Amino acid sequence: MDDPNPDFTRLMALASGYAEARAIQAALKLGFFEALAATQRNSKELAAAVHCDERATMLLANSLTALGLLRKDGEAFGLTDATRRFLVQDSSEYLGGMILFDESLWGTWGKLDESVRFGRPARVPDMYQSDPAETDRFIRAMDSLVRARGDATWTARFLDLSNARTIGDVGGGPGTYLLAFLNHWPALRGLLFDLPATLRITRKLLDQRGDPATARLSLCELDYRCTAIPGPLDVIFMSNIIHSENEETNASLMANCFRALADGGLLVIKDHIMDASLTVPAAGAVFSLYLLLTTNGRDYSFDEISRWLRDAGFVDLRMETLPSPPFTSSLVLARKPPHR
Ligand SMILES: C[S@@+](CC[C@H](N)C(=O)[O-])C[C@H]1O[C@@H](n2cnc3c(N)ncnc32)[C@H](O)[C@@H]1O
Repeated sequence: MDDPNPDFTRLMALASGYAEARAIQAALKLGFFEALAATQRNSKELAAAVHCDERATMLLANSLTALGLLRKDGEAFGLTDATRRFLVQDSSEYLGGMILFDESLWGTWGKLDESVRFGRPARVPDMYQSDPAETDRFIRAMDSLVRARGDATWTARFLDLSNARTIGDVGGGPGTYLLAFLNHWPALRGLLFDLPATLRITRKLLDQRGDPATARLSLCELDYRCTAIPGPLDVIFMSNIIHSENEETNASLMANCFRALADGGLLVIKDHIMDASLTVPAAGAVFSLYLLLTTNGRDYSFDEISRWLRDAGFVDLRMETLPSPPFTSSLVLARKPPHR
């Protein structure tokens, strides 16, 4: 039957959406999905496995079942195909890193009204560099989101890097994109530029992964705000970087990239790229609230990004939108003019 009051239903779902998010985050944090990975369990067995109260475990497991994240056969709870694919640690598409990162920001989101009132972040906008545990959680979150959704594989296939020999990934974080590029384009060598605390995690993740393409990848300490990116590079890739910075920093970052590129070199920016109203795509408009809480940035429009690029000297600007769903971001491509 049609919903007689769709506006109410949608509003109610939006306004109380944190309850569903918290149920998933708590279950993941408590190890519910891992405990059900090998075998089905009733609530008593599940509670014993995750060291939780039996009645409360039953209530959380029931709610996860109602949300379609667990199955319930008689008294026994088990994983669904989607939970096995995305919420169990040994899956290559494990999204848990991102969910645990979101969980850690619960208190920060609680200060949204203050951030809006005073116009400043709710926590020090340090890109999670001050505490090694936070850096670890942040970088694993980036890796897990990109691997679960498939952004890196899609982008590596989409870009024609057949003539490129060197690629720099500025703020490359876990190296998920760079490894995908190096695997797809075997003649490429990659440099991953990032801050020291991040690079310690990157090294750990690369060692754990043991991908042979790592032999063509170098980690380079660099603060792109105050250090020249070493060149000449054939391609510079920047994913989820400009959204954390203000307009002035982004304008000078584009100039930094321009100087580091070889003549004719390609700059690829990947981010939520907004329309002129800054309300589309919706995922980008809502994500800007997270950026308000934790950075000095926001999601920018193609026109705004184009201005910084043109001022830096770039030509042939274009935007490519990734297929949505599952993707929510776009690419902006720009060239350094060839030498005349
Ligand atoms: C949101 S993460 C994006 C990681 C990766 N590019 C991706 O899309 O998955 C931002 C990255 O930029 C790095 N970063 C932030 N500020 C930086 C700076 N001033 N210089 C170099 N790297 C920076 C962070 O350490 C982090 O790895």
